[in-house]
Amino acid sequence: MNEHIRSLFPGASERTYLNIAAKGLIPATVRDVVHEYLDAQVSGTSNKDVLREGVDETRALLASMIGADTDEVAITKNVSEGLNLFAASLEWHAGDNVVICPELEHPNNIYLWFNLARRYGVEVRSIDPVDGMMPIEAMVAAIDDRTRIVTFPTISFAPGFITDVEPLVRAARSVGAWTLADGAQSIGSLDTDVRALGIDALAVATQKGLLSLYGFGFLYVRREVAEQLVPIHVARYGISLDAHETAYSDGPLEYAPGARRFDLGNYNYLGMTATRAALEIVTAVGVGAIEAHVQGLAARLADGLIDMGMPVVGGRPGVHLAHIVSSGHLGSGRHYSADDPEVNALHRHLVDEGIVFSLRSGVLRFSFGLYNDASDVERVLSSVRAWKEEGVLAS
Ligand SMILES: Cc1ncc(COP(=O)(O)O)c(C=O)c1O
Repeated sequence: MNEHIRSLFPGASERTYLNIAAKGLIPATVRDVVHEYLDAQVSGTSNKDVLREGVDETRALLASMIGADTDEVAITKNVSEGLNLFAASLEWHAGDNVVICPELEHPNNIYLWFNLARRYGVEVRSIDPVDGMMPIEAMVAAIDDRTRIVTFPTISFAPGFITDVEPLVRAARSVGAWTLADGAQSIGSLDTDVRALGIDALAVATQKGLLSLYGFGFLYVRREVAEQLVPIHVARYGISLDAHETAYSDGPLEYAPGARRFDLGNYNYLGMTATRAALEIVTAVGVGAIEAHVQGLAARLADGLIDMGMPVVGGRPGVHLAHIVSSGHLGSGRHYSADDPEVNALHRHLVDEGIVFSLRSGVLRFSFGLYNDASDVERVLSSVRAWKEEGVLAS
C-alpha cells in the first residue's frame, strides 16, 4: 500500500484509526459522489432508471469480488437482514437443528436462531469455542441428519480469527445441510471465493471492509440453493415480470432468478452510490493485496504487544490471524465492556492518546484497513509502552 492510497482517506492521517472491524473509514471520493447524489435529489434531476442500472452494476461488482454470478446476489440493507431472509425461507419442522458457536457470533447471528426455536421448535446446538477459535471438531460432531443449517462467521467479530470453513462445509454437505456464513468482517479484507469455499450463503454489509455507508449490503445464495427457497417477503424486483410492474394481475407468482428473489422494493440508492465509488478503490488495489497488507500490520502489532508482555488472544501470528488483533482476556466482559480493570485503564489511556479502536467481549480490538501503515502500529506500541512505564513508576 502506498502514500497515494492513504491520502484518499483523510481520516487515516487525522487520527490513528484502527477500527475497521466496527466501521471502515470512507474515502473522500465517496463523500463527493454522495454530494452529487443529494444535489440531484434537491434539484429534481435524478433519474431512477439510471440509479437502478447502478444497483445492477454494483451487484455485478460485488458478485465478481466473491467469485459468484450476478444472479446469486440479492441487495439487502445489512448482515442481519441477509441472515434473516435466508433463515426464514426454509421450511422448518420441530426437531430440526442449527449448529452454531454463539460465543464467537455477533448477536445479530444469534437471536434469529432462538426465534426459530420459539416459533417452530428448532433446536439450537450451541458449541463452545476453543481458545477463541471456532470449535471445528465439536461442530462437525454435532452435525446429524436433522441439521438444516451450520452457521459461522468467516472472521469472528472478536477475537477476529479466520474460520477454517472447509471441514464445516464438508460435514454439512454429507447430511444435506446448508452452510450460512456471516461475512461482515471478511469481505474487502480477506480474499474470498464462495465457490472454492463451497458455502451456500453469505451475508455482508458495506460499512466495514467495503469502506462505505451503513444501510447497504448483500446476500449471496448459491443458485441451486436459492432456486429451492420460498421467500417470506416478496415485492417488485423480487418477482419476474415480463412487462411493467403494474401489468401483474393474478397469474402464478414467478420469482426472480437465483438470489434476486430476495430483493424487495426500492433500493438504498444512496448506499449504492457510495458503495460503487468505494469499490473502485477496493477493486483497483485488489482484495488479495489488501489482505496481505492488513495481515502484515496485524502480525507486527501482535508480535510487538507479545514482546512487551501483553496478552494477545491466539498468541503469535499464525493461520488464524486476519486483520484484527485482540489483547486482553476474551469473554471477560459483555459485548462492549471488559471486567479486568487493567484492560479498562489501558483502553482509557489509548482513547486519550487519540487512538480509535474497540472494546469487545473483554478485549481491546485493533483492526487494520488498506489505509493503515506501519506508523499506526508504532503509535499503538509506543502508547502501550508509555502506559506500562507510567504504571511501573507509580507502583
Ligand atoms: C460478525 C458481524 N456480524 C454482523 C455485524 C453487524 O450486523 P448488521 O450489518 O446487521 O448491523 C457485525 C458488526 O457490526 C459483525 O462484526
